[in-house]
Amino acid sequence: MSALPVRTRDAEGTRTVAQALAAVLKPGDLLVLDGPLGAGKTTFTQGLGAGLGVRGPVASPTFVIERVHPNLGAGPDLVHVDAYRLGGGGDIDDLDLEADLDRAVTVVEWGRDRVEHLVDSYLMVELERPDHVDDPHDPDEPRTLRLTPHGPRWDEPAIIRLEAALATVTGPDGIALAAESTESTGVADSTEENR
Ligand SMILES: Nc1ncnc2c1ncn2[C@@H]1O[C@H](COP(=O)(O)OP(=O)(O)O)[C@@H](O)[C@H]1O
Ligand SMILES: [Mg+2]
Repeated sequence: MSALPVRTRDAEGTRTVAQALAAVLKPGDLLVLDGPLGAGKTTFTQGLGAGLGVRGPVASPTFVIERVHPNLGAGPDLVHVDAYRLGGGGDIDDLDLEADLDRAVTVVEWGRDRVEHLVDSYLMVELERPDHVDDPHDPDEPRTLRLTPHGPRWDEPAIIRLEAALATVTGPDGIALAAESTESTGVADSTEENR
């Protein structure tokens, strides 16, 4: 399966894409986030949390390796994992990820080559920063998100739904629309819902 590329202009755009993606996710789904420090993996996960309607805030799990965000409604919980400090292979099995995987949507930052062996299906999300930015002082930078579905969960109808969800937040130029210009999905404000 070839990658579905989406470009974003700023952090809000990356959140908007993830939020739209949340609409097609189901309990048991695994997203593997790949990209260097500052690429937007946590920002993406914030959008996902908003889209799923889970209790926030979603932040960099600096001191914990795994954080569970319970759903505020009937949808799946969000399990947010930072695998950076985990070595390849073995360590991840200690996380007891498998117990949560069936009921939650699981996102693993730095997950590439660390978690794929635990599941038969996953969505790889690669975040790339451009080599060159026009204004290095502008905090907003373009990013390219590349979504690649793997495994039987992502059959043709599922991929069509995925593409349709992305299309709702993408302009004709392939760039994610600004948050204001997309329909509000009535998600919980993760900062206010904290605890
Ligand atoms: N298009 C964009 N998408 C995501 N983040 C962006 C974008 N432009 C600027 N940023 C900024 O880049 C930083 C990304 O940080 P973060 O999401 O924590 O990255 P990571 O988890 O990959 O280390 C944030 O400060 C965010 O505001
Ligand atoms: Mg992060």
